[in-house]
Amino acid sequence: MSDPMNGAREFDIILWGATGFTGRLVAEYLLGRYGSGADLRWALAGRNRDKLEGVRDELGHAAAGLPILLADSSDDASLDALAARTRVICSTVGPYALYGSGLVAACVGRGTHYCDLTGEVHWMRRMIDMHHDPARASGARIVHTCGFDSIPSDLGVLFIPLEMQRRHGVACAAVKFRAREFKGGFSGGTVASMLNMLDEAERDPEITAVLADPYGLNPEGERRGLDGPEHALPEYDADLAAWVTPFAMGAINTKVVRRSNALLGYAYGHEFRYDEGIVMPFGAFGFPLAAALSAASSAFTAAASVRGLRKSMAGVLPKPGTGPSEKARATGYYVIELIGRHPVDRTCDLRVRIRGDRDPGYGSTSKMLAESAVCLARDPLTSAGGVLTPAVAMGEHLLARLADHAGVSFEVI
Ligand SMILES: NC(=O)c1ccc[n+]([C@@H]2O[C@H](COP(=O)([O-])OP(=O)(O)OC[C@H]3O[C@@H](n4cnc5c(N)ncnc54)[C@H](OP(=O)(O)O)[C@@H]3O)[C@@H](O)[C@H]2O)c1
Repeated sequence: MSDPMNGAREFDIILWGATGFTGRLVAEYLLGRYGSGADLRWALAGRNRDKLEGVRDELGHAAAGLPILLADSSDDASLDALAARTRVICSTVGPYALYGSGLVAACVGRGTHYCDLTGEVHWMRRMIDMHHDPARASGARIVHTCGFDSIPSDLGVLFIPLEMQRRHGVACAAVKFRAREFKGGFSGGTVASMLNMLDEAERDPEITAVLADPYGLNPEGERRGLDGPEHALPEYDADLAAWVTPFAMGAINTKVVRRSNALLGYAYGHEFRYDEGIVMPFGAFGFPLAAALSAASSAFTAAASVRGLRKSMAGVLPKPGTGPSEKARATGYYVIELIGRHPVDRTCDLRVRIRGDRDPGYGSTSKMLAESAVCLARDPLTSAGGVLTPAVAMGEHLLARLADHAGVSFEVI
C-alpha cells in the first residue's frame, strides 16, 4: 500500500497535548530516543504557548530547537493547519470525547495518520461511524488505544494466532488474558475521561448499550460472536489452578481485540473467543481475596454511576495535569500471561508472557504511544486507511519496536 503523503510533510510527528501529564512523558521519551530534529522531525503542540515553552525548558538544552505549534480544540482552522503539516499527530488531549473529535476529522480530511490513548469506547464508536470510510479513502490511519489500553491485549492476541499458525498450522480456538502482577497509579486526565464517559452515558442510553455490547466496536452488521458480556464475578481458572477476578480495562480491551479480528477478515476465526481477568494469589485458596476485590470494584462502579457521588469522587481523585510520581513510574511494572487454546490438542496450547518495565498507565504507556507514532511515521506499513486498531494498523512492526525500544516484551513460555 503506497503512502499518500510520500514524506512530503514538514514534520514526521506533532505531539498535541505536550503540556499534560502523559504528553510530557511522551515528549521526554521522544527526545531521549530520537533527539530534537536530526533523526526525527517533530514538534510540541498545545493550546498555550507559555505552558509549551515551560515544557520545552524543563526538557533541557537538547529540546531548545523543538518547534512549538498552537491549536485549540475549539478552533477547527488551527486543527486543520496542524494536520496539514505532519505525517502523524500523536494526541494526549483528553477527555477525547470532549476535545478530540475535531482533530480526528482534520486528520481524516488531510490523510494524516493519528494515534491516541483513548479508552472511551462510546467516542471510538462515534469516530468509527463517522470516519472509517472517509479515512479509508484518504489513507489516514486513525488508531485509538495506543497505551496500556489496549496494546498488550491487541498485539498479544495477534502474536498468539501467528505463533499457533507457525508452530501447528491451525487457528487458535480462544485466547485468555491473565494479568499476573502490576504496579502503578492513575492520572487526573484518566479520571476526568472516565467520569466524562459516565456523564455522557447518563444522558444517552445508546452509549450504555455500546459499552455493554461485547462487539460494540465491530463494523456495523458484524456485531455478533460467541463472547458474552464481561465477567462480573470471580471464576476459578483450571488452566492456572487459581481464582480470577474481572479486569477493569477488560471492557475496553476485549472490544478492541474483537474489532481487530473483524478488520483482519476473521484471521483469528469466526468462532474465536477472548476474555480478560486478574489472577489472584494463593491458588485454589484465593477465592476470599477474589470475592473481596470483585465486590470493591462493583461498589466503585455503582458509586461512580450516581451523579452526586461521581462529583464527590472527582473532588478526592487526582486532578488533570497530575499523576504518579517519577519513583512510582520507575518502580512500576506489569506481567501478563496470555493463553492460546489449540482447537483440539490442549498439549499444544500456547502461553505468552508480556512484561512491561514501567508502571502500566504512564511510564509504559507513554513509550508505547511514542513508538506507535514513530511506527506510523516511519515503518513500511501495508494496512489501508481507516479507523483501525494497533494490531491492524501496525501489527508486527509495532511488536518489534516495543520489544527493541520500549521495554515491552512478548515471549512464548
Ligand atoms: N489508555 C491508557 O492507557 C491511558 C494512559 C494515560 C492517559 N490516558 C488518557 O490520556 C488522556 C490524557 O491524560 P493526562 O493524564 O495526560 O491528562 P492531562 O494531564 O489532564 O492533560 C490533558 C492535555 O489536554 C490539553 N487540553 C485540554 N483541553 C484542551 C483544548 N480545549 N484544546 C487543546 N488542548 C487541550 C491540556 O492542555 P493545558 O495544559 O493547556 O490545559 C493538556 O495538555 C486522558 O484522556 C487519559 O484518559 C490513557
